[in-house]
Amino acid sequence: MNPPARYLVTSALPYANGPLHIGHLAGAYLPADAYVRFLRISGKDVVYVCGSDEHGAAISIKALKEGTTPQAIVDKYHVLLRDAFQDMGISFDIYHRTSEQIHHETSQDFFRTLYKNDSFVELENEQYYDEEAQQFLADRYIIGTCPNCQHPDAYGDQCENCGSTLSPTELINPRSTISGSTPTLRKTKHWYLPLEDHEDWLRTFILDGVLDGDQHHAPDEWKKHVLGQCKSWLDAGLQPRAITRDLTWGVDVPQEIDGSEGKKLYVWMDAPIGYISATKAWAAEKGRDWEPYWKDEETALIHFIGKDNIVFHCLIFPVLLKSYAGGYVLPHNVPANQFVNLEGQKVSTSRGWAVWIHEYLQDFPERQDELRYYGYKIMPEQRDSDFTWKGFQEATNNELVNNLANFIHRVLVLSNKYYNGVVPVFDESISINAPQESGLPTWHDSELLDLFDKLHEYRQYMKSFDFRNALKVLMDVSSTGNQLLQLNEPWKMEKTDPDTVKVVMNLGLQYVTALSVVIRPFLPFASGRLRTMLNLPAIREDGEFVDLMDALSEGKHLIAGGHKIGKAKHLFTKIKDEEIEAQVNKLQGDEKEVAPDKNGVSLKDTANFDDFTKLDLRTGTIVHAEKVENADKLLKLTVDLGFEKRTVVSGIAKSYEPEGLPGQEIVLVANLAPRKIRGVMSQGMILMAENEEGKLGFVSPPKGWTKGDIVR
Ligand code: MF3
Ligand code: ZN
Repeated sequence: MNPPARYLVTSALPYANGPLHIGHLAGAYLPADAYVRFLRISGKDVVYVCGSDEHGAAISIKALKEGTTPQAIVDKYHVLLRDAFQDMGISFDIYHRTSEQIHHETSQDFFRTLYKNDSFVELENEQYYDEEAQQFLADRYIIGTCPNCQHPDAYGDQCENCGSTLSPTELINPRSTISGSTPTLRKTKHWYLPLEDHEDWLRTFILDGVLDGDQHHAPDEWKKHVLGQCKSWLDAGLQPRAITRDLTWGVDVPQEIDGSEGKKLYVWMDAPIGYISATKAWAAEKGRDWEPYWKDEETALIHFIGKDNIVFHCLIFPVLLKSYAGGYVLPHNVPANQFVNLEGQKVSTSRGWAVWIHEYLQDFPERQDELRYYGYKIMPEQRDSDFTWKGFQEATNNELVNNLANFIHRVLVLSNKYYNGVVPVFDESISINAPQESGLPTWHDSELLDLFDKLHEYRQYMKSFDFRNALKVLMDVSSTGNQLLQLNEPWKMEKTDPDTVKVVMNLGLQYVTALSVVIRPFLPFASGRLRTMLNLPAIREDGEFVDLMDALSEGKHLIAGGHKIGKAKHLFTKIKDEEIEAQVNKLQGDEKEVAPDKNGVSLKDTANFDDFTKLDLRTGTIVHAEKVENADKLLKLTVDLGFEKRTVVSGIAKSYEPEGLPGQEIVLVANLAPRKIRGVMSQGMILMAENEEGKLGFVSPPKGWTKGDIVR
């Protein structure tokens, strides 16, 4: 077990059927990003890959519900996801997508190879079939009651409530997602991965860290909850697992194979292979060789995922890789996280109980690092955790502002004030008051050694995926810096003992410089701002931490006497109560809007008859419709009222395509005060009914009535 020569780091490929929320981010992306940035500043060779998972029943079902095509769904969400990651500073070397040709080829090559070397078994069995829709019901096409937790809407492959993996026939009261009807059973033939044949080596590999007789990784290196989940799978006895489906959307089973017609690869076969395709695409782009990253035994392959993905990454994907017999490495570690709750409740995207990253960035465009910081602070490394807006505000105000930003600001302001921004040279024989005590020649040097020890601790935490504690060490370093200022009070001492103040300020600047490097994995944006303030080159993530540790261990300074720093600015600023209240209200607002309680919808306050008669409702016909630029919910409509035409901006683009609208009869609130929406003056509002799924439908007069009739 030599130290790895290179790292291939992956984050779970998110399904391209919805935007990114804080649960995703804290689960599989923030930890991976801190890890790869740390590896890079440690001078390691690392490639970090991800991409959109564009297959699977979840996507075609979403298309069905929205009356559009799977392709349109993935195209839309791929871009949204890609941009949200980029905006949050998730530093993938490539963000790929599984609809790319190279991915289809790579996964078909896997299928073909495993087929040829007899890694599959062919089995015929009975599967649920929707007679109305004339379709087999794989995975999410079937819902029913979870046999483990009684959740009424568990999917055929998984219960999202308790996280257990299911097969369709385990569901109680199964029903079709497409038609709602009770399915029948029909025979169909599929290829299966006989997991039970792999049980022995999987057990030694996962639980002892031994692969092919060699120690592959330290046995206690993997997280306890990951090992626990694997062990319970292994103990329960592995079963053959179907890796094909009767579906119309996905990667085709290679055509030359008998019985391939109408069959697609199971999304959980093709998606992890997406990590390989992404690496290939990265290598092609960069003129590099992808193979060492997957086939050299000195590569450490690390998968960052959420806990619902453990079985696929620890059991199934390793079996695929090993069965290929092409020298693929197996995961060195799978540091899965648990789930993040929101204000004490499970995140529910359908109820709108989520913090969407693109919306957060609209409200807090400059506060990526604040969200990142809080994400690391509440990272569900061992157990589920809770995101609260109050907690977010407190972490920002008390820790980032009052501790980190405050320390840095004081050091930079005082250095500018006393020395005109030039790092002071000091008399090495002078001792200062320091928070830590050691027997070394001057306080300055001993404090730098103390810093070395702390950063060594930080390094150990980073290596063992304990990001929360690593970040805590950095905040301790900042606290120590604040104490240093407090103990010596340069603002008082400058008049009486300027020579000692030089020692204090120089030390403060060394601390700040160290922080500019080591916060980089967590707070890349702030690190950038700080480097500018220090007038030091930006961190290129190319071994800077190694240089820093070398310098500290040799007693060298990190920022040289005589260097001129820039102006002091506040690295972080406080978040106001109103901003937090707005977020909390938005959360509740979403919930009300999306999930009205049919049995007791809370009605609005009473409107009296006069209130009602103030409204002038008229029948009309839509004569023209077009999209509103940069607004995916809005359409710009022209409505003919018979006596005049109106322009109306309406939030119906999620439910209707503009082409189909001309001729649609509607009811318009015709005397509503005009309102400017996205630069267009909207003259009225069209009445719409909204169903439980948030789909909108027109309220319309009887067919053929004249335009402009009064509605009351
Ligand atoms: N799309 C899956 C999910 O969101 C994760 C796929 S991870 C991969 O749960 F390994 F398959 F890529
Ligand atoms: Zn369940």
